[in-house]
Amino acid sequence: MRRYILAGNWKMHLDAQASADLVKALIPSVKDSTDVDVVVGPVFTSIPAVVEAAQGTNIAVAAQNCYWEDSGAFTGEIAVPMLKAAGCAYCIVGHSERRQFFGETDEKINKKAQALYKHGLTPIVCCGELLEEREAGKTTQVVETQLRGCLKDLPADKVRTTVLAYEPVWAIGTGKVATPAQAQEVHATIRALLVELYGQDVADAVRIQYGGSVKADNVKELMGQTDIDGALVGGAALKPDSFAAIVNFQK
Ligand code: 13P
Repeated sequence: MRRYILAGNWKMHLDAQASADLVKALIPSVKDSTDVDVVVGPVFTSIPAVVEAAQGTNIAVAAQNCYWEDSGAFTGEIAVPMLKAAGCAYCIVGHSERRQFFGETDEKINKKAQALYKHGLTPIVCCGELLEEREAGKTTQVVETQLRGCLKDLPADKVRTTVLAYEPVWAIGTGKVATPAQAQEVHATIRALLVELYGQDVADAVRIQYGGSVKADNVKELMGQTDIDGALVGGAALKPDSFAAIVNFQK
């Protein structure tokens, strides 16, 4: 049985004070959901405030990006050991917004995932097709190419603990959620790819989140699909009530 992982990607929202306030408001509403993993992903400058506010609770912290070198002359970048020292347990890599606007490639995402493993953080590796790719019948091809590239040369014991997030780009921030059947179809394809690359045992262990307009009123049906093991939530994670309702979807 895979444990559900419900994560909020706050994107470029909420300064340190607003981030800490959101966590404090969230704590009482999610504290009893101990059978799922709860993660929030603030901007870099809010990480210390969020880590402090979440101390001793069931809320873990994710960064939204990292660089793969441990230190050096890389102006504007943040190294994985720095994220670890700040208290992050996870880091989102390869989000479609980073692919679209910041030149993130599968090769770079792979280097970031390797660096995260080296320092004991869990990568949340994102993949997903554009609307035109879906309409051209290329969804499977796109997602498989992305994941083969992102996971290249990662040993099976590392992949086992990786979190994958399938986020169809056309469903992000659009209110246009993939139907549970559409999402399940791609998740099953991803699981089959993992079987091919790493064997059934590893494929069964990997958690695959769905992301793209997840809300309190659609989360339950999505999570009910065989190969959907969590959600990566944007807009609905910015308010304590709506994110708590997503975390507590089984209640
Ligand atoms: P929305 O939930 O706002 O569609 O964003 C999804 C997302 O990009 C999470 O990473």
